[in-house]
Amino acid sequence: MPDYSSEVKTVAIEDGVAVITLNRPAVMNALNMQLREEIMALCHALDADPAVQVAIFTGAGDKAFCAGADLKERGSRSTEGMYDERRFLRAKWVGAVAGMAKPTIAAINGYCLGGGLELALQCDLRIAAEESQFGLPEVTLGFLPGAGGTQRLPRLIGLQRAKEMILTGKRINAAEAERLGIVLRVVPRAQLLPAAIELARTIAKNPRIAVIQAKVALNASQETMLSGGLQAENEAWLPCLLSDTWKAKVARFKD
Ligand code: HXC
Repeated sequence: MPDYSSEVKTVAIEDGVAVITLNRPAVMNALNMQLREEIMALCHALDADPAVQVAIFTGAGDKAFCAGADLKERGSRSTEGMYDERRFLRAKWVGAVAGMAKPTIAAINGYCLGGGLELALQCDLRIAAEESQFGLPEVTLGFLPGAGGTQRLPRLIGLQRAKEMILTGKRINAAEAERLGIVLRVVPRAQLLPAAIELARTIAKNPRIAVIQAKVALNASQETMLSGGLQAENEAWLPCLLSDTWKAKVARFKD
């Protein structure tokens, strides 16, 4: 089995579930270039790895999932360097995790800020530990959430609520994040990873083709009008039909 771990992340794979841990706890798992590049490469690798059915993203340490962009690294960048990075990296980064064919879950274990929340928003599902804090503080730093936040958050919680969070830059707690629908549920810290793994395993038990094609169809609902979405649903359904999986599953119901 390939070893995907490195100094900035660990990856453990068991029973079809990959747990990816951002591993820079001394800086609240902030996203530097190395970590972002490694996550992008990892998304491709895990999609191609037959041992993986579902991927869980979490953070090392007991304080943070991810405190966003590495501001120390950003602080030393020139305007030109920042622009180049954006030109060459951004398009890939904003769709890296969201573009995975396999389902993804963010297990949020503390601060989930800026680019860290945008990373979580790329995941299909989010579960949070009780003490987690959420925010998109970019505007307070003179920027805007430019890694998908202005697009994914309003699609998830509605335009007005997203505007409040983004324009104020305020932080909210886990209960509020659950109320708004940013996270699916909130659990005590000790139950976070077990809950995420249980959810992942429940998904992983289902036929792979059905899960992957259902994700394709669901994602289409966010990008098309109803007629286009229904068309996408039909196209996503066909590969399931052509697979023998369904026949085996419904065989016991035959007359
Ligand atoms: C680099 C960071 C960091 C970050 C924290 N650290 N966040 N380093 N990039 N995003 C470092 C601190 O400098 C400190 O290092 C160590 O982690 C512990 O942080 P503390 O501040 O001492 O901890 P605490 O008091 O518990 O506060 C935690 C915190 C706070 C609330 C998460 O650190 C914080 O507000 N961080 C910044 C969050 C943020 O604004 N992120 C960017 C979002 S904008 P030392 O060496 O001092 O021990 C974004 C898009 C890009 O992601 C915007 C472009 C400008």
